[in-house]
Amino acid sequence: MNATVLLTSVDINIPGYRILRPIGEGGMASVFLAVQESLDREVALKVMSPVLAANAEFASRFVVEGKITAKLQHPNLVTVYDIGSHKGVYYLAAEYIPGGTLKEKVTDGGLSVAQILDIATDIAQGLDFAHSKGFVHRDVKPGNVLFRADGRVVLADFGIAKAMDGSNSSTVAGASIGTPDYMSPEQARGEPVDGRSDLYSLGTVLYELLVGVPPYQAGDPFTVALMHVTHPVPELPEPYVWLQPLVSGLMAKQADQRYKTGAAFVDALHQLLATAPQGAVLQETNTRKPGSGSRIASGAATQQRTRISMQRRKGRPVWFWPVVGSVLLFVAALAGWWLLTPAAVPEGGVASTTTPAIPPAVVDPADTGPVPAGFELPQPVDAPDRGELERLLNAADQLFEYGTTVEPSRKLTMPDDDSALGYYRRVLALDPENARARAGVAGIVAFYRGFAYKACAAERWVQCGVIVRAGMAVDSEDPYLRLMQDAAIQGEDGGSPVLPPAPAAN
Ligand SMILES: Nc1ncnc2c1ncn2[C@@H]1O[C@H](COP(=O)(O)OP(=O)(O)OP(=O)(O)O)[C@@H](O)[C@H]1O
Ligand SMILES: [Mg+2]
Repeated sequence: MNATVLLTSVDINIPGYRILRPIGEGGMASVFLAVQESLDREVALKVMSPVLAANAEFASRFVVEGKITAKLQHPNLVTVYDIGSHKGVYYLAAEYIPGGTLKEKVTDGGLSVAQILDIATDIAQGLDFAHSKGFVHRDVKPGNVLFRADGRVVLADFGIAKAMDGSNSSTVAGASIGTPDYMSPEQARGEPVDGRSDLYSLGTVLYELLVGVPPYQAGDPFTVALMHVTHPVPELPEPYVWLQPLVSGLMAKQADQRYKTGAAFVDALHQLLATAPQGAVLQETNTRKPGSGSRIASGAATQQRTRISMQRRKGRPVWFWPVVGSVLLFVAALAGWWLLTPAAVPEGGVASTTTPAIPPAVVDPADTGPVPAGFELPQPVDAPDRGELERLLNAADQLFEYGTTVEPSRKLTMPDDDSALGYYRRVLALDPENARARAGVAGIVAFYRGFAYKACAAERWVQCGVIVRAGMAVDSEDPYLRLMQDAAIQGEDGGSPVLPPAPAAN
């Protein structure tokens, strides 16, 4: 949810914290720079969207997971200081990491191979530590990788993904995670995950850092999720072919074919470096996209050349990158401030990039059942702005229409900040009783019922399972989707499940 909307619509006066300014936002939370008054220290205060807080299961998981992950202390993991709720607003106070996210760096482009390998090493070390303590991150992606002032990277949001998983079954862990780009095959299939799932996601991040785009590209999230299950491990283009063993060792389809631990990956990386082609690690990647390069200075990451690359070749004096880094950090801070302006809701439709795998189910949102459980929301403090609601609803309906008729599933639930579901949820956060938004959410669930039925009826079991999980990410309790889930599992296991009748035509 938009930080400005959150600030004005919901009471976020959290006792013990003084909010200084918004510093970022994801699909389900707004993050503020705040002062923890008892210790007079700056913290990143993550305030979860009221939509999530309204879901009882999320609320209990959030607190449980938060308490556990607060025990994880490692230089490559963001330390959680505090977690709690106040007047129905859930928050988490964590170490403030000032250097921006890896997501920004991907967009910015121009990372050297040495920097990329340093980043992958840092993430792997953080994962190795957490995995050794029995934790799985479940949402390793560039947006959750933050830069410290010294250029090292840290992984944020350990355990949050599990809390956000709306289902009460561990077998669908990951179902509600925002983007399928970094999802492991076992997550896409809804199977239980362990640390090797995070290593797979690290592989997708490594691939994206080198190539500039995530490994699997498709117009809709199902196809991407399905590609993680069925498509071959992506191949790195020249000049990164020498790094293919790393991507293959991380992204093997079967978890037991992957590196067993983050440390094993780091060892393999060091061995590969010993035989790397001359100059390969100093290679700059060329992922800069038009118009994006000048907005965020590359800042702290630049200093990382002093690690892997300096093992191989003498470079500038040791003070050089820290000094340049500090200057660039300052520029980055200014740029970051400027970039905090909330994004506008698009007026138009969406671009089409793929052909749908199965024909669309046509759904009329006005004709669907009651809104799913989990959408009871706390009352906003201020009366909703009707113009804003109308704008959000129009954007939502337009995407709903598109995703249920033109390209099935596309823009229905993902991305969080630009999908029919995302806009309906924003409306519901402002106006919990809004009938159009409730009908819209129910319509999305109805769409998934029909879509899953078609896939299962055609005995496309894996596809059916992926579709079912996407629907259950919207409503984990939907009885019809649960039946279809059982059918998909049986079908995948070679059984001949008896399908329930097709869902009522809408
Ligand atoms: N500990 C932190 N220190 C500094 N900035 C942070 C911290 N945690 C989050 N941020 C900033 O807040 C932004 C939003 O974080 P959040 O976790 O809500 O979303 P995300 O991980 O980018 O995406 P998603 O909602 O899909 O998980 C981040 O992109 C980052 O810029
Ligand atoms: Mg995050």
